[in-house]
Amino acid sequence: MLASPEVHVLSDIQQWSAEAATLTLDVQRQAVKERGRFLIALSGGKTPEQVYHRLASPSLAMTKEWSSTLFFFSDERCVPPANPESNYRVAEQALFRPLNIPQNRIHRMRGEHPEPHAAAREYEDVLRAVSQADRMPWPQLDLIMLGIGNDGHTASLFPGTDALQERRRWVTVGHAPSNPSTRLTLTLGVINQATVVLFLASGESKSDIVKKILEPQQESNRQLPAALVRPERGRLIWLLDRAAAAKLTGPYTEGHGTPT
Ligand code: 6PG
Repeated sequence: MLASPEVHVLSDIQQWSAEAATLTLDVQRQAVKERGRFLIALSGGKTPEQVYHRLASPSLAMTKEWSSTLFFFSDERCVPPANPESNYRVAEQALFRPLNIPQNRIHRMRGEHPEPHAAAREYEDVLRAVSQADRMPWPQLDLIMLGIGNDGHTASLFPGTDALQERRRWVTVGHAPSNPSTRLTLTLGVINQATVVLFLASGESKSDIVKKILEPQQESNRQLPAALVRPERGRLIWLLDRAAAAKLTGPYTEGHGTPT
């Protein structure tokens, strides 16, 4: 039975980023307690940066479970890691460096690889080995963070692309309508096996697409990439600030769980 989305609306960006950090650390603590480690795939784009800063804040940086955390990425642009467009670079500056995460616990997608399809297969091999899912059809990550674009894309699964149709590979090559166009991305099969999928969206610019995904008025909206993210056994959480939730009719949970 697919879980319904848990939609949390926070009053402002400070509350939103604090709640995102709290949720992340709750999942981390549970994973380390149950399985001795925490496998997280970080989202791309700009939205998660505020959450990274919160997670790396002095009060949270002392969390002992960071030493049992292995970092992956939901997607990456096909650019070198030092490129300002690199999702790894954003996380490296805002999260990994402040938390002193050693390189051997960070598994970045090699966007700089001259052959994107080879880079996708390489990352699948890494994911297969590190997640100890060698003989499994899919890995089970503990938390996959995702953002959403105004066309309904998530990770680098864009509407009408082959990447969105991929049903066998764990990692594939995505094509964005904007530069850098060629990208590496986890596929829906991996995303929908996660224990928790956390969509992060903030700001008024996200309000239209959030409405289309969470309260679809037409069938085509149900086929948008972000709408196809429905974890088979895991939790699906949408964390919104008031501005991103402005067009929703709800009722949705406000803050830490009080129904609106
Ligand atoms: C990427 C992301 C992409 C992103 C959305 C939202 O590499 O760009 O993975 O899916 O999450 O485009 O981007 P913003 O957070 O910058 O709005």
